[in-house]
Amino acid sequence: MTTSSEDSWAALDRYISDLCVPPDAALDAALRDAQAGGLPEINVSPNEGKLIYLLARLVNPRRILEIGTLGGYSTIWLARSLPADGRLITLELEEKHAAVARRNLARAGLAGQVEVRVGPALSTLQAMIQAGAAAFDVIFIDADKDGYPAYLDWSLKLAHPGTLILADNVLRRVTESPSGGSDGIREFNRKLAAHPALECILVPILRGQPDGIAIARVK
Ligand code: SAH
Ligand code: DHB
Ligand code: MG
Repeated sequence: MTTSSEDSWAALDRYISDLCVPPDAALDAALRDAQAGGLPEINVSPNEGKLIYLLARLVNPRRILEIGTLGGYSTIWLARSLPADGRLITLELEEKHAAVARRNLARAGLAGQVEVRVGPALSTLQAMIQAGAAAFDVIFIDADKDGYPAYLDWSLKLAHPGTLILADNVLRRVTESPSGGSDGIREFNRKLAAHPALECILVPILRGQPDGIAIARVK
């Protein structure tokens, strides 16, 4: 991508956020504290946060699952789509990330609705199935990219007809030749598109480099 088109993407991204994503004390503080805590700045953008919030809100969710918490920025967006008695479970490998996320969620007034579970997501998902966890209405996949194909398998075990499955970073370097990016992402996209129980689309997202989000619905 040329520098000038990167600049115009950034300008468009800003145009959208200026109109549609007003400053928000809890979200802004969550980003500040994640940065101050030395967490990588790989959260969803404000516009993508608004997008996942809105998509979730459209399915009137009571239960949301997130795979990949970081500092809880996307978690706050998603949890705001829940009713007062709704619940969000978010899975994170790193205790340090989980600690920052819990503080950010508490400040956002979401401590009672959100639970951060620490450990490798695959193990946590397996434990949830074994414990007979109820199905989720929305599932957002955003952890290690090579894990995405397995996260899709486990997500389907925790879904019901109508569940909305979202996944971040699904268009990063996918068309590069020789193949760039993550093989896991390309495999995830193929599995998502070919699965008989899913209908899906991949939507480009404006960022520093081209990327995108998967939106899928369980039939
Ligand atoms: N959803 C967040 C960003 C997540 S970044 C947001 O937009 O705000 C990816 C996160 O996945 C990191 O915090 C990383 O520690 C975590 N992660 C990486 N491998 C993981 C694994 N195997 N299980 C659970 N979390 C993992
Ligand atoms: C990375 C991870 C993400 O979830 C993201 O949105 C951007 C970058 C990363 O691991 O580099
Ligand atoms: Mg991401």
